[in-house]
Amino acid sequence: MDFIKSNNYSIFFSDLGYKKLINLIQVNKYSKIFVHVDTNTKNYCLDIFIKKTNGLNFDTIESVPGEENKNLESCINLWSIISRKSGDRKSLIINLGGGVVSDMGGFVASTFKRGIDYINIPTTLLSIVDASVGGKTGIDFQFLKNQIGTFYEPKMVVVDPIFIKTLSKKEVLSGYAEIFKHSLIVKSKLFEKLIKQEDFYFPELRLIKESITIKNSIVLTDPNEKKERKALNYGHTLGHAIETNSLLKNKKLLHGFAISIGFVLEGYLSTELFGFPFESLEAIKNHVIKKYGKEIFSKNDISSIQELLIHDKKNSYGKTKFLLLKNFGEPVYDVEVDSNLIKKAFDFYDA
Ligand code: GLY
Repeated sequence: MDFIKSNNYSIFFSDLGYKKLINLIQVNKYSKIFVHVDTNTKNYCLDIFIKKTNGLNFDTIESVPGEENKNLESCINLWSIISRKSGDRKSLIINLGGGVVSDMGGFVASTFKRGIDYINIPTTLLSIVDASVGGKTGIDFQFLKNQIGTFYEPKMVVVDPIFIKTLSKKEVLSGYAEIFKHSLIVKSKLFEKLIKQEDFYFPELRLIKESITIKNSIVLTDPNEKKERKALNYGHTLGHAIETNSLLKNKKLLHGFAISIGFVLEGYLSTELFGFPFESLEAIKNHVIKKYGKEIFSKNDISSIQELLIHDKKNSYGKTKFLLLKNFGEPVYDVEVDSNLIKKAFDFYDA
């Protein structure tokens, strides 16, 4: 399987991906091609892209790396450069980077001249198995993650596992959290496989494809997150609040590390409220702690995290809504949770 079909685009792997990319560019006769990088992908990935696309003519546009720069100022910078370089409605943006690059580049593409084409070439494991697939674009706003954004599909995604080799072990682990999440939200043998697996640095392509296939199947069922796609937010309600809290404290926790704690906390809520099997909850907790270690949360942290929950973008009518699980692959949508139970979830994580 060298490609996975999504709604109006496909996810292509390795060399076939670059072939399809060149073909798409020729067919669409783009007026200008902008390759959007950040400082890291400019240094470590751009040369690989140039070799693989063999003489493609493009302009580079660069963002400052890091979640703290996924904001309006960075978009203004990108819109300005694209305008200055005579970008028009027939221009193309190729996002060569992790989730920040693709979320922000996708957002810039979706709004420039009311929408131009873009392609994602994810360079982190996290963006390969999650951010680059599914057409969510966006930026953070006033310390709230993904507060402003659009649903706007790429023209294609090119997955080249070679980029994973440019990452630190910590970054690979961060991406692994999304693979692990996929094993919880659908019925499959993936969970058993993952918890038995020896430590790995470079995940097998088979595992990556299995993970993308799960994400893509959920997105296909519900592209605009009316219901089923909410399952992809498992662990993220508390995970995002934990991530933001760490940013506010200048003690940046990588996304995957934060949401993995969310899997345990929201697993506890799932067990308490919907009878998610306790032995599975313990298996999740053990796996998370084995992979990511244990974070310490003070009383102040927990209060600040609860405060941040109020602003989660998945809220409606001022209530925090959780996606919980009755069992693997059996989501329960839009659950309101008492704040005392959330405190108990932290006690369970800490025990
Ligand atoms: N990252 C969650 C989603 O794409 O819906």
